[in-house]
Amino acid sequence: MGRGTIQSERKVSGMKYRRLGKTNLKVSVVGVGTWQFGGDWGKDFDQKEVDAILASAKELGINLIDTAECYGPYHMSEKFIGDFLSRDRREDWVVASKFGHLYEERWQNAWDPETVLRQLDASLRALKTDYIDLLQFHSGSDEAFNNDDLWTMLDKQVQAGKVRFLGISIGANDNLYQTSKATEVGASAIQVVYNRLDQTPEKDVFPSCIEQDLGVLARVPLASGYLSGKYKPGDRFTDNVRKNHKGEDIDAKLRLVEEIARTEVPEGVGMAEWALAWCLQHPAVTCVIPGTKSVEQVEANARAAALDLVKDDHPQAWKA
Ligand SMILES: NC(=O)c1ccc[n+]([C@@H]2O[C@H](COP(=O)([O-])OP(=O)(O)OC[C@H]3O[C@@H](n4cnc5c(N)ncnc54)[C@H](OP(=O)(O)O)[C@@H]3O)[C@@H](O)[C@H]2O)c1
Repeated sequence: MGRGTIQSERKVSGMKYRRLGKTNLKVSVVGVGTWQFGGDWGKDFDQKEVDAILASAKELGINLIDTAECYGPYHMSEKFIGDFLSRDRREDWVVASKFGHLYEERWQNAWDPETVLRQLDASLRALKTDYIDLLQFHSGSDEAFNNDDLWTMLDKQVQAGKVRFLGISIGANDNLYQTSKATEVGASAIQVVYNRLDQTPEKDVFPSCIEQDLGVLARVPLASGYLSGKYKPGDRFTDNVRKNHKGEDIDAKLRLVEEIARTEVPEGVGMAEWALAWCLQHPAVTCVIPGTKSVEQVEANARAAALDLVKDDHPQAWKA
């Protein structure tokens, strides 16, 4: 056995797995968020960079990818992932995507069942696969959600095998309405903003997820990167996402992060990995899906799984 093999076995051994609620899918506690591949985060990606990120994720034991129909125009993020998947073993991955928007020349809402179905087929083509493991309602309004025809059409796609499970990515992180109706509409997982700076879902959303045995994907777990520990009050951003954040809000968050780093993060532990492990402590949370821009970030994020905060006796811990 060569040295490379020994190293990769050592890297993989730190990953932990959980059952994604009633889907019974086995997912790594750390996934790869891929909004970044669409180019909105101050960096354009090429296929080689995406390949390197996903190959390194796999080597580290990560098996969950979160993408969406509208991360970049014309299914850009899904196309990068699909190209990689077409050269990898599709069945090794749990691919989560979303529906509800059409992004070609411009970004727009698209919730009517016919367009959603066309979008699902376009996502499948982009991902170069014949099924999506988890197809999520992408942060739509309650009005868009309250459409029986939509959920009936989606149920047919599950029956046809194009989708394994349905999920709901709630927009506001206190949207108990959509969360509480998950089982009724046939959804088995919730995606919600949850991080050390924003604990809103603990109040109502998480208890409902536990009661219904829903999987929970914690998104924005690094508070859009502010919890990574690399930024200081006064820092400003030019990327499409963070340039819209108010300076005073950024500073307030970064001051709090400095205090957390001083008072809560153990000596020698990286802030980003600690922040991810912090999310994984909650009994409702199945996994975190940090947005990822480089191999170094994947490696740091994967290290979260090995921290003491990520307990082996978590209620969704994977039992072989
Ligand atoms: N409505 C929805 O359904 C919805 C909405 C938002 C996000 N999401 C999903 O959730 C994922 C995560 O959310 P997010 O990307 O918005 O926020 P996030 O995960 O809190 O932050 C991501 C940013 O943090 C920085 N980062 C990541 N890992 C790092 C590390 N180890 N060390 C230092 N910096 C690191 C990177 O930016 P810099 O290096 O530039 O700082 C990255 O772009 C998305 O990719 C997407 O898949 C879904």
